Amino acid sequence: MKKRGVLIGCGFFSENHLHAWAENDGAEIVAICDLDTNRLATVGDMFGIERRYTNAADMIKAEQPDFVDIATTSASHRSLVELCAPSVGTVICQKPIAESLADARAMVNACKTNGAHLIIHENFRWQRAFMMMKAMIDEGSIGTPHFARFAFRHGYDNYANQPYLAQIERFTIMDVGLHLFDLARHFMGEVERLACTTQRLNPIVRGEDAFTALLQHENGATSVCDCSFYARYSPEPFPNTAAVIEGDQGTLELGRDFKLTLHTKDGAQVLDTEPDVPAWGAKPWHAVQQSVASFQEHVVDVMNGKADPQPSGLNNLQTLKLALAAYEAAEHGVTINIPTWCEDQL
Ligand SMILES: NC(=O)c1ccc[n+]([C@@H]2O[C@H](COP(=O)([O-])OP(=O)(O)OC[C@H]3O[C@@H](n4cnc5c(N)ncnc54)[C@H](O)[C@@H]3O)[C@@H](O)[C@H]2O)c1
Repeated sequence: MKKRGVLIGCGFFSENHLHAWAENDGAEIVAICDLDTNRLATVGDMFGIERRYTNAADMIKAEQPDFVDIATTSASHRSLVELCAPSVGTVICQKPIAESLADARAMVNACKTNGAHLIIHENFRWQRAFMMMKAMIDEGSIGTPHFARFAFRHGYDNYANQPYLAQIERFTIMDVGLHLFDLARHFMGEVERLACTTQRLNPIVRGEDAFTALLQHENGATSVCDCSFYARYSPEPFPNTAAVIEGDQGTLELGRDFKLTLHTKDGAQVLDTEPDVPAWGAKPWHAVQQSVASFQEHVVDVMNGKADPQPSGLNNLQTLKLALAAYEAAEHGVTINIPTWCEDQL
């Protein structure tokens, strides 16, 4: 039997959620909610969803869903998660989980107290290339990793689809930085120390549109996470992430053209990690669209008791902590000791 879900927030990115849910065999979206009646009508008509609400509490009470998919921006995440946790068994929340550790911790506690799963829609680790790299590393293909770089650099006009990005005071670290820090933790382990610089390059943005972070992991490994929304490349690489992971037996090198090279003492082996374009999707978004579908398949596995949340709200607290610490590191020109920073809030 399909799990019955509802979606809150019918904005730009929700269309990817709804397309992917529509082709998921284990779940279906039976109702949607948005404060904006125009978006509600547009998205409801687009996906043939008749049950539409402008108030999330009314929807939860009337629909009594198995799961809720929260696709609003972060300012509303805490209140919506706290609203859902008492009666909905699985709560999915888009990244950023929240804007502060206090809010994020409250959301984790609300779900824990009520026995609900809190799963963060952190989809970069669900991109085909990163799933393949994780499997190869787990199989020992490069030995023990000791250095990584995750780079997201482009000049694509994101401000057309997501105009709020130009307005926010905390921009790239809270937007793409969270994805890159999640990858760094996923591949290299927890972080001990962090340093960061930020840049404001495009005059139309209010916050930082580039950053470079240096992470020292608890196991001694080093990672660099860097991002720019003001970098010229041809062809335009958006929205692909380049990555390098070096180990004592070899190196994995992912290009923004989806080519993954395994370098070992025996030479170089090149694999193609490009996913198919979903029937509902389009280039250049197809790797992101595939990751949304893969993430949702994982959520169904969690609901069916076959997997633990990846990442859970509790796990994602550490990623948010790195992002918030990165702002402090950049502002004061200091290296932050992560385990002790804001320890009282965790
Ligand atoms: N994981 C990814 O790859 C990825 C990509 C893009 C965006 N995002 C994230 O998705 C989230 C949404 O981004 P977006 O670009 O779609 O934003 P958006 O502003 O286009 O859409 C948000 C929608 O939520 C609605 N909303 C806000 N508060 C509400 C409430 N209390 N009840 C009902 N509806 C409410 C708004 O009216 C709006 O229609 C953000 O947190 C963003 O960071 C993630």
